[in-house]
Amino acid sequence: MYDNNPTLDPHKPLDESQQGSVYFKNADAPGDPEKGTRHFYIESYGCAMNFSDSEIVASILGEVGFQPTRDMEIADLILINTCSIREKAEQNVRQRLRIFDQVKKRRKGTLVGVLGCMAERLKAKLMEEEKLVDMVLGPDAYRDLPKLVAEASQGEKGINVLLSREETYADISPMRLDSNGVVAFISIMRGCDNMCSFCVVPFTRGRERSRNAFSIIAEATDLYQRGYREVTLLGQNVDSYKWENPDSKEVVNFANLLEMVALVHPDLRIRFSTSHPKDITDEVLYTIKNHENICNYIHLPVQSGNSRVLKLMNRTYDREWYLERVKAIYRIIPDCAISADIITGFCSETEEEHQDTLSIMKESDYTMSYMFYYSERPGTLAARKYPDDIPLAVKKRRLQDVVDLQMEMSHANNKRDIGKTFKVLIEGNSKKSDQQFKGRSGQNKMVIFDKKENLKVGDYVQVKINSVTRATLLGEIV
Ligand code: 5AD
Ligand code: SF4
Repeated sequence: MYDNNPTLDPHKPLDESQQGSVYFKNADAPGDPEKGTRHFYIESYGCAMNFSDSEIVASILGEVGFQPTRDMEIADLILINTCSIREKAEQNVRQRLRIFDQVKKRRKGTLVGVLGCMAERLKAKLMEEEKLVDMVLGPDAYRDLPKLVAEASQGEKGINVLLSREETYADISPMRLDSNGVVAFISIMRGCDNMCSFCVVPFTRGRERSRNAFSIIAEATDLYQRGYREVTLLGQNVDSYKWENPDSKEVVNFANLLEMVALVHPDLRIRFSTSHPKDITDEVLYTIKNHENICNYIHLPVQSGNSRVLKLMNRTYDREWYLERVKAIYRIIPDCAISADIITGFCSETEEEHQDTLSIMKESDYTMSYMFYYSERPGTLAARKYPDDIPLAVKKRRLQDVVDLQMEMSHANNKRDIGKTFKVLIEGNSKKSDQQFKGRSGQNKMVIFDKKENLKVGDYVQVKINSVTRATLLGEIV
């Protein structure tokens, strides 16, 4: 997997260096925890939605007196928020559980819980066969956590993997974990109804449901007032966001919601993810165009560039439809950046069909992509209907073709930015030097530049680009 711009982007899995991020710094509850308070330690894997869920979990635990810690050795409760999207993600989790088990042996009474997508898939197996786990909670069951923790303290193992048609955690104000105090996620919907044939998400996260629009606006407003300057609206398919106001019966669609969030404050930047090519409307594109604070960046997973493969994948669009949407994006928002998710070696994919993926990448001119080889997931439509018949070596070689092309394209795309000036939100010190800041442009490219007096994290600056690498733009404040 290759990720040339390792930022926390929703829906898509995080790159390997980000996987397993440990949440510790709790911007909402600073200060030393009192002696005697209980501590929880949480690791999150997978997509940004999981990271966002961990903040909901933290808030629920905070209500019953738990404090976050980055040190698992002092934790009373160790949680792992898991991902099932590819086999490798699940293997990682099993390894981590063995490590937690050693802590448990050293520190009697420590409880271990498995949350998230693997919970639904592996339920009882995790608890009974492996004996490593005290509680298992699926993505819709987090309100039950305090109860299950209490029961587990009495030696009773607990499990709740029920999926809900209503749960959106709308009323829970997430405890911002590991936050720079400037950028945050807001979950706007849960689940997915799309049934792409390769994907396990509809099974692990359940049916699609949209969150109360007013609770989203309230969360964005609160974040702005506390100094945050960027929110990313998260959903598996944000374009199908739809919420009916029970009083007025008015329906809020995604374009309406984007506009409502954009109006919270001109200095609050809006990102969103993930868009679905079958659902992204011109209305959404015009809303982006009309609001300066909605970033000109769209993550538009293509998966494959070949119409036959797309049909097998049950993506419900073909190559022509996808390219028409890309054209519409560049027509309506000329400086928009587009990124994609791509899968190589899906069932029965031929070499020619693989070439179609390479050519659609070029035609779409992605600034970056998240690229994977196909990994069969038990229970999915593809696992039931189509043999996983592309040899691993071929899947990997095709992935390498895609990665090589994307690297070349990203570099060329970045070079075109030399001489241009971008509005950048300062997110922190650059990795290499505390004399330099890093931040992102509206197009979601990482920009590095020398500091100037009186500027701080959370400020906007205009940065002129002088040179580039494949992954970053280097510039100076103007
Ligand atoms: N194998 C490989 N990649 C997958 N994805 C989802 N399911 C699979 C799978 N079974 C990728 C898709 C999706 C992203 C989140 O993960 O590209 O958009
Ligand atoms: Fe999975 Fe498709 Fe839903 Fe994305 S849109 S979560 S790939 S089923």
